[in-house]
Amino acid sequence: MENLISLVNKIQRACTALGDHGEASALPTLWDSLPAIAVVGGQSSGKSSVLESIVGKDFLPRGSGIVTRRPLVLQLHKIDEGREYAEFLHLPRRRFTDFAAVRKEIQDETDRETGRTKQISSVPIHLSIYSPYVVNLTLIDLPGLTKVAVEGQPDGIVQDIENMVRSYIEKPNCIILAISPANQDLATSDAIRISREVDPTGERTLGVLTKIDLMDKGTDAVEILEGRAYRLKFPWIGVVNRSQADINKNVDMIAARRREREYFANTPEYKHLAHRMGSEHLGKVLSKHLETVIKSKIPGIQSLISKTIAELEAELSRLGKPIAADAGGKLYTIMEICRLFDQIYKEHLDGVRPGGDKI
Ligand code: GDP
Ligand code: NA
Ligand code: MG
Repeated sequence: MENLISLVNKIQRACTALGDHGEASALPTLWDSLPAIAVVGGQSSGKSSVLESIVGKDFLPRGSGIVTRRPLVLQLHKIDEGREYAEFLHLPRRRFTDFAAVRKEIQDETDRETGRTKQISSVPIHLSIYSPYVVNLTLIDLPGLTKVAVEGQPDGIVQDIENMVRSYIEKPNCIILAISPANQDLATSDAIRISREVDPTGERTLGVLTKIDLMDKGTDAVEILEGRAYRLKFPWIGVVNRSQADINKNVDMIAARRREREYFANTPEYKHLAHRMGSEHLGKVLSKHLETVIKSKIPGIQSLISKTIAELEAELSRLGKPIAADAGGKLYTIMEICRLFDQIYKEHLDGVRPGGDKI
């Protein structure tokens, strides 16, 4: 299974790299059919913080106000060994090993597209992280939903953000991480509102409750976490991310996770739920869920891949060989990856015996 997820990841990456050169019409469909996880919610609900804890690295701009102003398509690639590094699609020849520099580049690249303003852009930033400590996943960080435009923002921004978010989460293969802060009334949650709109039955929505540590004294999140306040198909997961004071003090990820674990284990109200709370648990649930989704989509992906291979072959012969053009090289790569997928898939089919589930 690990193999297939990793291949799906590679295909996604190749499709992205192909960009405008993609003449094969099945390619965009192929990209859309591959599962991804999008993080949605109101501004400052803790989306970027949740994403960071899933990855287990500090690399995203976070803070109050509108910080995330372009979609960030983040691909995690598990490597067998070696040092972790990151690469941006717009800087193909540069390897980042310093994750503070990754954060700075996200900020700079956001500014390059939007100016140093509070404006947003729907042009995504593509970032890949290669690490022995991640699971293969594609995660998308999105600008936060708001209710009013602030000074320096055009009037239409509220609707623009909403449309941008919707364009990602309406795809049936998108897993929605719906982030609601516990210190606000769930009835006002933007994440719940928009995810309910595109996924009314909650089949592909994971409810995440942040800022549990910031709730008013005398109140708790047990109703929500036990699924009695708003029911989703999957159990709600509560998290405690780093506060702004922690960020300012550079509290690291390991310390933050330990504190989060202790928080749930030692708070009497949450003790009984502690085993299914926290960022680490969320990461595990996500990768398990992704696996299930990919398994169920394999036949569909498979037939799209066969179609893509045929189209890419036609495209390559149209371009003529030897392939000098950059586009030709990329087409070739994606075709090779598709072939590999095809092969692994067939091996999987051969290996499945009645009652046995090999992948
Ligand atoms: P985003 O705008 O939804 O991406 O939210 P961010 O991840 O940037 O977080 C916004 C602010 O809330 C930051 O200052 C975070 O430190 C803070 N924050 C996020 N989650 C929590 C949490 O669970 N507890 C506390 N105390 N602060 C949090
Ligand atoms: Na924010
Ligand atoms: Mg953010």
